Amino acid sequence: MKINHEWHRDFFKNSFYNPASPASVAKAPEEVRFLLKHLKLKKGAKLLDLCCGPGRHAVEFAKKGLSVTGYDFSGEYLQEAARRAKKKKTALRLIRGDMRRLKFKDEFDAAVNLFTSFGYFQKFPDDLKVLKGVARGLKPGGRFMLDTMNGEFVRKNFHPRSWAKMPDGSYRLDETIFKKDGVLVAWTFLKAGKKPAGRLFFVRLYSKKTITAAMKKAGLTPLKFWGGFSGKPLTDKTNRLIALAVKNKLH
Ligand SMILES: C[S@@+](CC[C@H](N)C(=O)[O-])C[C@H]1O[C@@H](n2cnc3c(N)ncnc32)[C@H](O)[C@@H]1O
Repeated sequence: MKINHEWHRDFFKNSFYNPASPASVAKAPEEVRFLLKHLKLKKGAKLLDLCCGPGRHAVEFAKKGLSVTGYDFSGEYLQEAARRAKKKKTALRLIRGDMRRLKFKDEFDAAVNLFTSFGYFQKFPDDLKVLKGVARGLKPGGRFMLDTMNGEFVRKNFHPRSWAKMPDGSYRLDETIFKKDGVLVAWTFLKAGKKPAGRLFFVRLYSKKTITAAMKKAGLTPLKFWGGFSGKPLTDKTNRLIALAVKNKLH
């Protein structure tokens, strides 16, 4: 399997993949409650939702009185986020851009990056650019919450081939191979009467140890880890890795 390094450019389109399925949208309010508890923000605080996608978390944060900037590469998802905000009678500042090129400086009280929106680049320095951009954009003492796949879990529960049944009754074939530091995955959607649609993606696998090292390099100090939004501890049996970090005061 050979992957285009900029695979995200045509993966995140509603015609192929929609992160805001009804099930994911329904989970967002509870996830936001967890995030707010640990981000410790006051009403009016400025929050960056990095890789906000269709805005399912961003609108919930805005409903809680935060001043939310949603940042994403996908114009289609940003349009959906704007529609979602209008429907919920909230306002979002939405910016289209690449997460490796964040231009903010000492602006946000907190930042989030949710639902495995990190680790997409095959060169680690690109992931580091993202973390450095987050750190630069935070005010000193500002908090950052990252929610991604738990690399330890993925390594221990590796299936080279599996099938997932989709809510509409169609199927998705997942084929995974391990590359140095990450997984290369091919998703093929199979729907009766339609041509199969497939794409490849790459996600770098992070453990508590490797994300701690990366965050420290970027000027962020990890404070706490969880294995899910229920607040359960991070172990090699939890498929999520949620990390809370703070921007170093002198950074
Ligand atoms: C798995 S989705 C998650 C979206 C959202 N956080 C959620 O929970 O619904 C990943 C998001 O990352 C965005 N993304 C991918 N590559 C990006 C890049 N290089 N720069 C900015 N956004 C990117 C995609 O457009 C997509 O919205």
